[in-house]
Amino acid sequence: MTDPTGKPIARRGRLSQKAELFTESVIREMTRKAMLHDAINLAQGFPDFPAPAAIKQAAIDAIKADVNQYAITWGAKSIREAIADKLNANSSLGVDPTRELTVTCGATEAMIATLLAIINPGDEVIVFEPFYENYGPDAILSGATPRYVPLEFPGWTLDTAKLEAAFSDRTKAIIVNTPNNPTGKVFSRPELGAIAELCRRYDAIAITDEIYEHIVYSDPQRPLEHVSMLALDGMRDRTVVINGMSKTYSVTGWRVGWTIAEPEITSAIRKMHDFLTVGAAAPLQEAGATALKQPPAYYDELCDGYRERRDLLCSALEESGFGLTVPDGAYYVMADISAFGHSDDVAFADFLVEEIGIAVVPGSSFYSEAGKGARQVRFAFCKRLETLREAARRLARLR
Ligand SMILES: Cc1ncc(COP(=O)(O)O)c(C=O)c1O
Repeated sequence: MTDPTGKPIARRGRLSQKAELFTESVIREMTRKAMLHDAINLAQGFPDFPAPAAIKQAAIDAIKADVNQYAITWGAKSIREAIADKLNANSSLGVDPTRELTVTCGATEAMIATLLAIINPGDEVIVFEPFYENYGPDAILSGATPRYVPLEFPGWTLDTAKLEAAFSDRTKAIIVNTPNNPTGKVFSRPELGAIAELCRRYDAIAITDEIYEHIVYSDPQRPLEHVSMLALDGMRDRTVVINGMSKTYSVTGWRVGWTIAEPEITSAIRKMHDFLTVGAAAPLQEAGATALKQPPAYYDELCDGYRERRDLLCSALEESGFGLTVPDGAYYVMADISAFGHSDDVAFADFLVEEIGIAVVPGSSFYSEAGKGARQVRFAFCKRLETLREAARRLARLR
């Protein structure tokens, strides 16, 4: 190649180095394989049942009322106020919707906008492992160096000595996802207290992905609660909450999420968000304001529905020979595949989608090194009971 004067142009790499550093999402790839093999998709975390009628109607009404142009870049007033009202009604946090909230295109954008807002070269971010697949590429895109701390199977226990060893003067932030994808772990108040103490000691920020906050399987024998780090001592100004409509209102395709953070961090997040996407879909933000006003019974029903699905799938998996810890929250179960004698998780996931007709996610997608997840696959149970019953019938063929 030459320039207009005939001088040769040095050939540079066509793609960015960042683009070479990670692959396309394995979770989304498994959804494509599910379609190819006409398999039941227990890979990707989206419901196969309808979204609530009132929330859909609110979106239709907003479009008809011509809420069809850009909303304020950091989010329509109505949804920001609804988010703050919901939170402030049950706490003394006093979240300010004008200065502490940013509405984004899903929790996905909320996370990358947050990291872009706070990370400098050389900064380390602590991530629990196994982790939600997006956090790896998010770290690369923002330039953070991830430091992994294991949650140990079975039980997904946290060794606080290992956590403490991961913190240093280079630690800028820790990502805490509770209730957790993929493990189903609900971090306890003492565990979160230990994390908070380390954040204060090392002047680090807690980024808490709380997208499954309403899916916690508490019962009288085993009481559980979702605790937001925002509410812990000394954490109000050093926590960024990531949340969204996808899971709580069964509208993963709407792409409405948000961050909650003190004003200085919020103004940096808002700048990143403005130039990444300008804003989330305006009529769907309007519908979000309606969704966020659901009565407490809505959240109880959501959770009870998932508990029934969890129990159905976990029993079927155990009867078919999988090892597992029954999840305390969210809608996934990481299952041990040692009993089946396949070479690794990817070979087993391919066998399951091609021969048994069920798509799952290979465990290695949730670890920094493939070997750590070689004996695990993740099932999602956010599906209709009929779908899960059919999956159970197919799984019985593994016995
Ligand atoms: C832990 C976690 N965070 C974020 C997301 C993505 O959320 P959103 O649809 O709001 O982008 C998911 C989706 O599976 C998730 O499991």
